[in-house]
Amino acid sequence: MEDFGKERVEWTRKDLLGLEGLSKNEIYAILDLADGFREVSTRSIKKVPALRGKVVVNLFFEASTRTRISFELAGTRLSADVINFSGASSSTVKGETLMDTARNIQAMGVDILVLRHPCSGAAYQISRGVTASVVNAGDGAHEHPTQALLDIFTIRARLNRVEGLKVAIVGDVSHSRVARSNIWGLQKLGAEVYAVGPPTLVPRGLAKMGVKVSHYLDEILPEIDVFNMLRIQSERQDQGLFPTIREYSRLFGLNRERMKRVKPEAIILHPGPINRGVEITPDVADGPQSVILEQVANGLAVRMAVLYLVGTRVTQPLGTPQHPAPAVLPAAGGPEA
Ligand code: CP
Repeated sequence: MEDFGKERVEWTRKDLLGLEGLSKNEIYAILDLADGFREVSTRSIKKVPALRGKVVVNLFFEASTRTRISFELAGTRLSADVINFSGASSSTVKGETLMDTARNIQAMGVDILVLRHPCSGAAYQISRGVTASVVNAGDGAHEHPTQALLDIFTIRARLNRVEGLKVAIVGDVSHSRVARSNIWGLQKLGAEVYAVGPPTLVPRGLAKMGVKVSHYLDEILPEIDVFNMLRIQSERQDQGLFPTIREYSRLFGLNRERMKRVKPEAIILHPGPINRGVEITPDVADGPQSVILEQVANGLAVRMAVLYLVGTRVTQPLGTPQHPAPAVLPAAGGPEA
């Protein structure tokens, strides 16, 4: 087991906007706290009073299955009052600005605003205009920090380390907030990151960030420990960034033939939603090396940790891997359970 989390961290941040600005120890603090919260989901009564009396609003301006339900469940399991709100039914459709919407929500006593928005920087902008905590649930092509945290959590849970692993992020890296957050997080934790895809879908500047770039998945297959297969955004096809979906799949999709050349202990991630038969064939998506549903399960614990940290801004030392269940977690069957 690598030497993580030994240096104790005090969480003082109001918001979680991305992984770019987090330190290695802050990332480990979230992962270690999530380790403790994972146990809550195994209890018969899956609830703790950690955020009792706090109000969380999930404000989503884009479609979402995993992130939205996961944040809702995370808030509920921490005993917060949770309100889900879709951008399409908000007064922004009548011309209200996003900042005015956020300030009006805050005026009702909301403590944490979870925001998904198609514009890069939306969460950052809102965070500067409200005193409530803001958690970025995906902003344009910028960052999706909790997705990367749950990806890294899953890698660590399966392979017992992050440092030194070779992680390939495959697909539309240019337009992917998942890729961007993963690159920041994985590099801070010492992984070797590869960006794999056609030249039109991999930004040129990545090499300067220390990311290894490959346009040939077959060349690197046998050396990779973790494949993170990004969703191909079908709307990009109209932009001429790759010839056809079939061509993309032939060159960059994970299928039975390619799996024969992959390390037996390598794992396959996908943030979802999957285009079965495009990024990944159904037998691989449902096969023994796939951890796609583990990612979703772990996402709940990770989001509980994030909501807890920004909602309470912990000032006491967090647990270490030797004591992964933080002392703040109440025992099962307590009065609020
Ligand atoms: N991974 C992810 O963000 O999925 P959703 O769009 O369903 O939330």
